[in-house]
Amino acid sequence: MFITNPDVERYIEELTRLQIFDENVLREMEDYGEKVNFPIVGRQVGVFLYLMAKLKKPKLVVEMGSGYGYSAYWFAKGMESGKVVLTDFQDRNISKAKEYFKRVGLEDRAEFRVGDAVEIAKEYGGIDILFLDLEKVRYLDAIKIIENNLSEGSLVLADNVLWRGEVLKDYPDKKTTVIKEFNQYMFGSGKFVSQIVPIRDGVLLSIKL
Ligand SMILES: C[S@@+](CC[C@H](N)C(=O)[O-])C[C@H]1O[C@@H](n2cnc3c(N)ncnc32)[C@H](O)[C@@H]1O
Repeated sequence: MFITNPDVERYIEELTRLQIFDENVLREMEDYGEKVNFPIVGRQVGVFLYLMAKLKKPKLVVEMGSGYGYSAYWFAKGMESGKVVLTDFQDRNISKAKEYFKRVGLEDRAEFRVGDAVEIAKEYGGIDILFLDLEKVRYLDAIKIIENNLSEGSLVLADNVLWRGEVLKDYPDKKTTVIKEFNQYMFGSGKFVSQIVPIRDGVLLSIKL
């Protein structure tokens, strides 16, 4: 299920692509994702992450589930100082991310970590932007474990919070159930003010109170 009308989606995508970034490398990353069926956030969400970094001016961004560095590129590109911490289980993904970051000259903006994203994130305090794109069944645990490591007024961003519309189901599967519980927590716990931006698969944007 498309979250947005497909024609509207196409219109937004076309407008988004009028903006020029590191096109050669970005297109390579996008083509690779399509070829091996790897779920990167895509251009619309990417530019949204870039804008969040530009507005927030974070010193520390921690990504939970970086894959080969596509979403991290957008944070790093929007940051004026500080670093983005990339995390992934897979050494192969992180090595690929390192190569891409070198090619766009952003390697000094990044720290590359292989391992469990929650365990790695625990090591950092004063996180200004936390981005969740790890296994969906971990979303709720991840935020509960890491919320005390966030700086005041930090942003929490999470991808796939509308999960192709599965969140509308009354009897959803396990992954969807956790996403729904996570959304409920981000809106209802009183610890954050949140909204869902319905681009692509739904991006949660929250500010920690
Ligand atoms: C959806 S992909 C990430 C895509 C990436 N954010 C992007 O848009 O370019 C999810 C990635 O998270 C990794 N992953 C999932 N759960 C993880 C965990 N608990 N710790 C570390 N990596 C995890 C997977 O190996 C996979 O590469």
